[in-house]
Amino acid sequence: MNSTLAAPVETDRFRSDVLFGLSLPQKRLSAKYFYDAEGSRLFDQITELDEYYPTRTEFGIMRKHAPDMAERCGSRCLLIELGAGSLTKARLLLDRLDRPAGFVPVDVSGEHLHSAARELCDDYPGLNVRPVCADFTTEFQVPVRSSARKVVYFPGSTIGNFDPADAEDLLRKIARLVSAGGGLLLGVDLRKESATLEAAYNDRLGVTAAFNLNLLERMNRELGADFDPAGFRHRAFYNTVRSRIEMHLISTANQRVRIDDTEFQFRRGESIHTENSYKYDMTELSRRATACGLRTEAVWTDAKQYFAVTYLTAVG
Ligand code: SAH
Ligand code: AVI
Repeated sequence: MNSTLAAPVETDRFRSDVLFGLSLPQKRLSAKYFYDAEGSRLFDQITELDEYYPTRTEFGIMRKHAPDMAERCGSRCLLIELGAGSLTKARLLLDRLDRPAGFVPVDVSGEHLHSAARELCDDYPGLNVRPVCADFTTEFQVPVRSSARKVVYFPGSTIGNFDPADAEDLLRKIARLVSAGGGLLLGVDLRKESATLEAAYNDRLGVTAAFNLNLLERMNRELGADFDPAGFRHRAFYNTVRSRIEMHLISTANQRVRIDDTEFQFRRGESIHTENSYKYDMTELSRRATACGLRTEAVWTDAKQYFAVTYLTAVG
């Protein structure tokens, strides 16, 4: 394995984003900051929860339709996975792809990415695996010089963690990255009744709460902040108007928190908005993708229509 040693999300950037986000009238932080090594470990636990249906539903769709998906990706393609995590879903595709030119998993969570990529290399000895630790919303370098057709794999409904305008920017960026004729295999969580959605983000074991609260611990570890995690609680609810789950950290008391020389005040009940998870309507997604230069070629879903995986091609 040959890896690109881009820095993990730099602490300076983390610090300035936090100082900015906590000074807004509605305090907020980017969901990408959930994923330090501990956050990635907690996310893996989330994927195993009874209530968290997206992972096993997407897996089911992948298992059933991987041959068709691989055929659409085409022979000798260069597969680039965004928000690669533990690389479990990509294996279903790699098992079926015809002589891929390489595999480039991209993730901000460096330690986790490199350890998952090492395991993948052991299991796929002939595959050219080139992990890239980067924020995929930036202009990262693809470390494979090849004229192969590029296909981006973007599973998990991670696109749902972006507000609509940012999601469209990302789709346009992907269309440019793969260029005309290249592909995007995209997993999205679909709209459904609130009770199912809210249960998925309020699990009985409290793993999602720990995942949310880890952000406070991460600011303490990396920025020397003095958050008392016991002074905050997890809250997740479905915003039906915006079709998104919102996650917040609610201050349970009036309190002050210090980061460097800056002091932040929290009123009892005040929140830090930590994540949005948009739920999609497939027709609307296809329309938006078309506007971003991506044509929908195929859509696969499960019997309950909980989740969809769609293959799109970039038009010139
Ligand atoms: N693809 C996996 C993991 C989804 S969790 C799955 O489907 O189960 C989201 C992943 O995206 C995490 O591994 C996180 O570290 C990564 N991620 C989130 N925002 C990112 C960004 N802006 N750039 C790169 N990786 C990001
Ligand atoms: C990665 N992302 C799509 C997950 C989601 O469902 O929005 C992250 C997550 N947040 C809480 N649980 C899982």
